[in-house]
Amino acid sequence: MRVRLLVSLLLLSSIQLMAQGRGRGGPVVFPPGPPKNLRVLPAGTNIRETMGAFRAALGVQCTYCHVAGEYDSDDNPKKNMARNMIRIAADINAEFPDGKSHVTCYTCHRGEAKPRTEPPAPGEVTQPGRGRGRGR
Ligand code: HEC
Ligand code: HEC
Repeated sequence: MRVRLLVSLLLLSSIQLMAQGRGRGGPVVFPPGPPKNLRVLPAGTNIRETMGAFRAALGVQCTYCHVAGEYDSDDNPKKNMARNMIRIAADINAEFPDGKSHVTCYTCHRGEAKPRTEPPAPGEVTQPGRGRGRGR
C-alpha cells in the first residue's frame, strides 16, 4: 500500500514535470543534460525521480530549493540545506542493522517543508500537505 502510494506520487510528479516542460515552442528536455554540480548524490542518480520525491516529501515546488531554471546554481540556500538533509538521512539509515534505507525525506517531512516536532494540539486542524498520505 505504502509502496503503491509512493510510486503513484512519483508518477504524478513526472507527469507534472512533463506538463511543465511543454512551454512555448516544442518539448523541453528534462533533466537539462547531465548534472554538473552534484556534491552529495552519487553519479548515476536518477535525478528526475529523486527530485520528484523531494518535491512530494516537502510539499513544495522545484523553486523552493532551486533558482528557477538554473538547477546547477547553489544561490538558493535551501538547496544546501537539502544537501545536509540527504547526509542526515544517510547517517540515520547507516545505523539500521539490516542495511536497508528505512528513513526518507517523507519520514520526517510528511508533505511539509518544516516538520512538526510536536503532535497537533487536541482539536487543532492540521493543514494537509501536498504529499501527505491518507489517514495522517
Ligand atoms: C528539497 C530541495 C529540492 C527540491 C524541492 C528539488 N531539488 Fe533539485 N536538487 C536539490 C539538491 C540538494 C541538488 C544537488 C544534489 C547534490 O549536490 O548532490 C539538486 C540537484 C538538481 C539537479 C542537478 C543540477 C546539476 O546540474 O547539478 C537538477 C536538474 C534538479 N535538481 C532538478 C530539480 C527539479 C526539476 C525539481 C522539481 C521537480 C527539483 N530539482 C526539486 C534539491 C532540491
Ligand atoms: C530526521 C528527520 C528529517 C529527515 C529524514 C529529513 N529532514 Fe529535512 N528537515 C528536518 C527538520 C526537523 C527541519 C527543520 C529544521 C529547522 O527548523 O530549521 C528540516 C528542514 C529541511 C529543509 C529547510 C526547510 C526550510 O524551509 O527552512 C529542507 C530544504 C529539507 N529539510 C529537505 C530535506 C530533504 C530533501 C530530505 C531527504 C533527503 C530531508 N529534508 C530529510 C528533518 C528531517
